[in-house]
Formats: sequence, C-alpha cells, structure tokens
Amino acid sequence: MAHTVHTVASQGSGPSNALGRSPAVGGAPFYAAQGSECALFEHCFAQQLPLLIKGPTGCGKTRFVEHMAARLGRALITVSCHDDLSAADLVGRHLIGQGNTVWTDGPLTRAVREGAILYLDEIVEARKDTTVVLHPLADDRRLLPIERTGELLKAPPEFMLVISYNPGYQNLLKGLKPSTRQRFTALSLSYPAPAVERAILEREGHASPALAARLVQLAQALRRLTDHDLEETASTRLLVMAARLVTSGLPLRDACRAAVVDALTDDAETIQALDEVVRAVVGDED
Ligand SMILES: Nc1ncnc2c1ncn2[C@@H]1O[C@H](COP(=O)(O)OP(=O)(O)O)[C@@H](O)[C@H]1O
Ligand SMILES: [Mg+2]
Repeated sequence: MAHTVHTVASQGSGPSNALGRSPAVGGAPFYAAQGSECALFEHCFAQQLPLLIKGPTGCGKTRFVEHMAARLGRALITVSCHDDLSAADLVGRHLIGQGNTVWTDGPLTRAVREGAILYLDEIVEARKDTTVVLHPLADDRRLLPIERTGELLKAPPEFMLVISYNPGYQNLLKGLKPSTRQRFTALSLSYPAPAVERAILEREGHASPALAARLVQLAQALRRLTDHDLEETASTRLLVMAARLVTSGLPLRDACRAAVVDALTDDAETIQALDEVVRAVVGDED
C-alpha cells in the first residue's frame, strides 16, 4: 500500500507559497470604514464567530478583510470561489509523489492548522459540497473532519472563517442555503457615503478633492439611474480606476467612458444613456 505522508504547514516560517496571502509589510492596507464594521469584525474574531459579508462588487469587501487581518495580526488566506471549486480543493487531496501518495493540505485545512483568517470570496459560486465542509467549522464545534486522512482538526481560537457574496439578482437563484447562512453573523456593506468615497478616491486614485467630488457626483447619478437597466452599477472600484486614468493625464470624459461606461455594459442603448449622464455631470470639455 502506498505510504501516506502528512505535510504539516509551518507557522509562517520558510518560503511562503500560499496563494492569496496578504503582504506581510508593516501597517494595515488603507480602509475607510462605512460604519462600525471594524468593531463588528473584532468582536466576531474575539468571540470565534464566523462572518458573512454581503455587498455589491467593488464596494470594499476584500479590502476590508485584508485590513482587518493585518490589524489583528493574523495571516489571511483568500480563495476566490468559482463554479468548479470543490470541497477537496478547500480541504486537500492526495497527490502522487515519487512512489508515494502525499497528502497536501488545501487552503481551508492550512488556515485551520495555522490559525489564519480564511476568506472565501463569492461563496455562492462554489459547488454545493463545499458548504457542507464549512458547517462543522462554522458552528460552535469548530471542527474540520478530513475524511481522506481520518483526521479531525479542532480550529484554534485564532482561526476565523469569513465568506462574502454579492446579493445581486444574478445570485438570487444560487443563494446561500438557510442552514449555511444561519451559522454566520452577517454584515451588509454597500457603496460608501459620499464623503467616505471621496476620501477613498483621493487616497487610492490620487484624485484632487475636486476630481473626487466630481466622480462621486457621477456615481450617485449613475446609481440612481441604473438600478433597473444594469446588473451592476458604478462601483467604488470603477471610480478609483477612472481617477487613476485622469491622474495619469487622460481627459475626464475619456476616463469615465473607459473605466465606468464601457466597463458596465456592452449594450449600445445603455452606453448612450450612461454617456448622457456622464456628459450632464462631467460636462463636454475635460
Ligand atoms: N472602504 C474602502 N477603503 C479603501 N479602499 C476602498 C474601499 N472601498 C473600495 N475601495 C477601493 O476599491 C477597490 C475595490 O474594492 P474591493 O475590496 O476589491 O471590493 P469587493 O471585494 O467588494 O469587490 C479597492 O482595491 C480599493 O481601491
Ligand atoms: Mg472582492
């Protein structure tokens, strides 16, 4: 019978090839809070409660988690979920080595062993069997059974499970099972208030106060207008991109067209409608 080797993740020593690990540089990445979400995250961490973050694309979910992981001094392991992602991708699998079968931890197992924060981005995209492995970890048992190796891991107090999803209409059908949902404390993020969003554009997009104000005004107009016409609307991420293009020397109209209008839709009529909003807010000249 093939010999099974358990690879045990080291406590952050040695070369880290962990995918999605946040850079271990001093200072947490910049995050402008929308409300009291930082305190909520800290309390969840202290109480060993898992957290579900809901919010539209580009509203700051990932940045928030990166910021909090750094603030709490925990390693962050991020997994972007997709429709092919299975429980084995998260937990681990046997790989054929030189004549041996070698067990390799997946990101979930690694996070449990190391006491890291595991962030599953867009959880509803993952295959249904993935949520099943999360259940015993997400309730007060905090256990990860690894069927293939017969191991039963107890998560250390520092381990935290964070999942996110975008409750847009394309996800209505997929949804989260109530049995999964009810294991998580929940936080709802939306686009930041105008003053906060302006501060983000100044910091992240190197925008002048005047440019930041103009772009936020545009976003407000687009968000009002596009609720019905578009799957997604102008996100903070897109505004940051527009600000960067302007800072780099591109005329404002062109930057808005590239980073916002064309980024949001392929439909000619909708492009025209959005362009009109851009012209109304930004003006004809740059
Ligand atoms: N509250 C915020 N503080 C700082 N930057 C933000 C904030 N919200 C959005 N951003 C900017 O927008 C970009 C996209 O945010 P991200 O966290 O990736 O969104 P999401 O994960 O919700 O799709 C970030 O890279 C950052 O530049
Ligand atoms: Mg994200």
